[in-house]
Amino acid sequence: MCGIVGVVGRVDAAPRLLEALRRLEYRGYDSAGIATLVNGHIERRRAEGKLINLEHVLDRHALPGTTGIGHTRWATHGAPTERNAHPHGTTRVSVVHNGIIENHAELRAELEAEGVVFETETDTETVARLLDHHLAAGATPEGATSATLKRLNGAFGLAMIFAGHGRKMIAARRGSPLAVGYGEEEMFVGSDALALAPLTRRIAYMEEGDWAVVTDSGAQFFDAEDRKVERAVKLTAFSGAAVGKGNYRHFMEKELHEHPVVLGDTLRQYIDPSSRAAVLPELPFDPAVVPRLTLSACGSAYLAAQVGRYWFEQIARIPVDSDIASELRYREPVVPKGGAAVMVSQSGETADTLAALRLLKQLGQKVLSVVNVDESSMARESDGKVLTVAGPEIGVASTKAFTAQLAVLACLALGFGRARGVLSAEDEARLTAALLEVPAHAAALLENGEDIQDLAREVVQARDVLFLGRGSLYPIALEGALKLKELSYIHAEGYAAGEMKHGPIALIDPAVPVIALCPSGPLFEKTASNLQEAAARGGRIMVFTDAIGAPSLRRFAERVVVLPTVDPFVAPILHAIPVQLLAYHVAVLKGTDVDQPRNLAKAVTVE
Ligand code: M6R
Repeated sequence: MCGIVGVVGRVDAAPRLLEALRRLEYRGYDSAGIATLVNGHIERRRAEGKLINLEHVLDRHALPGTTGIGHTRWATHGAPTERNAHPHGTTRVSVVHNGIIENHAELRAELEAEGVVFETETDTETVARLLDHHLAAGATPEGATSATLKRLNGAFGLAMIFAGHGRKMIAARRGSPLAVGYGEEEMFVGSDALALAPLTRRIAYMEEGDWAVVTDSGAQFFDAEDRKVERAVKLTAFSGAAVGKGNYRHFMEKELHEHPVVLGDTLRQYIDPSSRAAVLPELPFDPAVVPRLTLSACGSAYLAAQVGRYWFEQIARIPVDSDIASELRYREPVVPKGGAAVMVSQSGETADTLAALRLLKQLGQKVLSVVNVDESSMARESDGKVLTVAGPEIGVASTKAFTAQLAVLACLALGFGRARGVLSAEDEARLTAALLEVPAHAAALLENGEDIQDLAREVVQARDVLFLGRGSLYPIALEGALKLKELSYIHAEGYAAGEMKHGPIALIDPAVPVIALCPSGPLFEKTASNLQEAAARGGRIMVFTDAIGAPSLRRFAERVVVLPTVDPFVAPILHAIPVQLLAYHVAVLKGTDVDQPRNLAKAVTVE
């Protein structure tokens, strides 16, 4: 995804656009650019790579003008070069875009046939050229926008400025989120409220298909049929301070240390500490009778859903299917009448998860989303939502949002178990008590992280790493591998420990560290014996366990990291933190870009 921002104001736009782009850089960092209106003419500055490069360009070639648009890019169509960097446009119009214009090839061919010459390989340039075509024929900015939007297929958040229209910007949204911010005699547009946080907290969210004419005195909204509509202005909870790094080196480090607070805040929403009962939010289906749940998500959120699957089956005895959203949407899933779906997402904007959500709704499923960003597309399109209380997560790697997702799924599983009459009040009280202790255990774990740093010094030397886990810790092994790959670019695989001898054990040699999640509990002996099989073949075993499991594992493991002893039910939440920490420390040792790993973006709003 890309980040877009716009300002119509009375002071220089470029510094404010740059500041907002800093807050949007997590959305993409392949290139960046700004365009402003200077004496009625469009001027722009662009640079390949990170925002800092654009800052240097602006230092050398200042950009005046009080109306402008800015963009930070995650490349889809066309290489991440300066030429393909947004804004795109002509002398009449300049455009920034987040999303994909699916019919760009057809539009390009049509315009080229009329003699239009394109400068870039981007899909976005077709929007600029179409607008220009209508403007050249005498259309107003509003007329050109209306006509152009009707030709576009795909997903977009757009912000546009027009030569000769000094205090005007037009924004449009289909598929990609867009917020309009209200200031004092100035107005803003941004991909999210976070970007606008230091500028204003008064936000109107554009709805699907909306477009808006934004001037320094307000905004007029139109729906997809060009009818004037009203969009409510709300006060966002975000403040400028919420999105700083504080005293931490990286956002990820800060976010790792927020685990105890985030887990506490999230659990407090869904557990009544006095009755020790899970408190279910309003649900769009009756968990007592729902015949099947379909869980779906992408990346780490999918791994949280996988843990959820274990919990819903074990605790609530509900039949569950879970699938990666990009697979589910093309798998032609068979879902039961009266069934329900649970989608999991930090951003609420991941294109594949959103598409799977829409498909499941079409198939008659009631959809509940576990989502961190209220007002996101998923939150708004679902039949019901359960919010994680993780706050803004800026580091590209999901950390606190992931454990908050686990916390919510755990509470849902308990509530569903009670609703179905398969979880006694006693067991519910025991399990909620275990959950409520997790924030304190997380804090203890974060305070005593030296063992994990030592482990990182071993892992950083490896070319390949295996992560093993069993039961609900198997998805956490996958999460460990995903985090390590994503942050340190070291190849890692996660396996179910019992699956080792069906193939992966052939990989075992002293150069491949085997990192196992093996706390005490019903699956301890089984996992430990799988590890011994690997150790017997020369494998270097490194384990996360607890004080009960540690003595027997020390007999053959090269390193044993002892975590707090917890009920096996909550072990996935607690074990997620050290595998994230490990990946963080390895990345720091390797010197990779922790908050903005190569080729990635925080939310993937394209297919
Ligand atoms: O915003 P979402 O939770 O829907 O994002 C899903 C994945 O893209 C995300 O979890 C990704 O895998 C993370 N970068 C992993 O750390």
